[in-house]
Amino acid sequence: MESSQRPKPGGALPPHPTLAQYYGHDADRPQFVRRLFDLAARDYDTIEGGMAMGTGRRYRRDALRRAGLGAGMRVLDVAIGTGLVAREASRLAGDPRCVIGLDPSTGMLAEASRQLGVTGVLGVGEQLPIRAASIDFVSMGYALRHLADLGVAFREFFRVLRPGGIVCVLELTRPASRVGFVALRFYMRRIVPILTRLRTRNAEAEVLMRYFWDTVECCVPPEKILAALDGAGFEDVRRTLAVGLFSEYTGRKSGPSRVPTGPASCPEPDNFFARRMTR
Ligand SMILES: C[S@@+](CC[C@H](N)C(=O)[O-])C[C@H]1O[C@@H](n2cnc3c(N)ncnc32)[C@H](O)[C@@H]1O
Repeated sequence: MESSQRPKPGGALPPHPTLAQYYGHDADRPQFVRRLFDLAARDYDTIEGGMAMGTGRRYRRDALRRAGLGAGMRVLDVAIGTGLVAREASRLAGDPRCVIGLDPSTGMLAEASRQLGVTGVLGVGEQLPIRAASIDFVSMGYALRHLADLGVAFREFFRVLRPGGIVCVLELTRPASRVGFVALRFYMRRIVPILTRLRTRNAEAEVLMRYFWDTVECCVPPEKILAALDGAGFEDVRRTLAVGLFSEYTGRKSGPSRVPTGPASCPEPDNFFARRMTR
């Protein structure tokens, strides 16, 4: 990575500019996002399945496997949501006790704990209540656009990973081609929100889908995301692109690669926590 591409020390890297039409000021964004997900939580899986964007369970599992998630690894799934990434991580790790899911939305966490046997913790990616060097694999699916500062969050991911640990961030990227962009924008901005409203009868779910697209459209380019991972200290930073839309950002903390030893090596979840978060 060229040093000119690295984020300037001390310079914040928000994932997109302020979207004042939704939350006014940046300071109000976390509360807006949390409320949106709280109110849309019960319908999230329906929305996600109905979008037909290919980001389903199978894709998530394949992406985690490609990044190097294997049996017995201790996983932190940041932004667990209803558990779509964590479920697949748990399968690959071989035991739900290997997986901790973190999310600031109590609504989403409640859905995840209803559906999965993984440990859920309230918190944000920018301030992880997790011990340093205690995790083998940090995953984050489709939440990069909700972070306040990519640099701060990636440094936290780096801190909690043990040497040799892996980070894997999944995110939708706006198509590079003009035709692809215009077509996807029409589908996501005009069709999906209306279908979502009809299917769920939930006005917040419709707002969530509009917000989803607006954040994808305004998101910082992949080079900046790669530079932020590099700046946080990760090695072998790379982006794998599937069907021109789905970006898999991966990196490794330097140190010996861990040889998976099977689920029995996962300690009790309490051993991970630096502190418990409460609201
Ligand atoms: C689109 S959902 C993704 C859920 C899941 N990872 C998936 O793949 O379906 C985004 C999630 O990010 C969470 N989130 C929002 N801000 C966050 C933050 N600062 N740190 C961690 N998670 C956050 C939301 O509460 C929501 O559950």
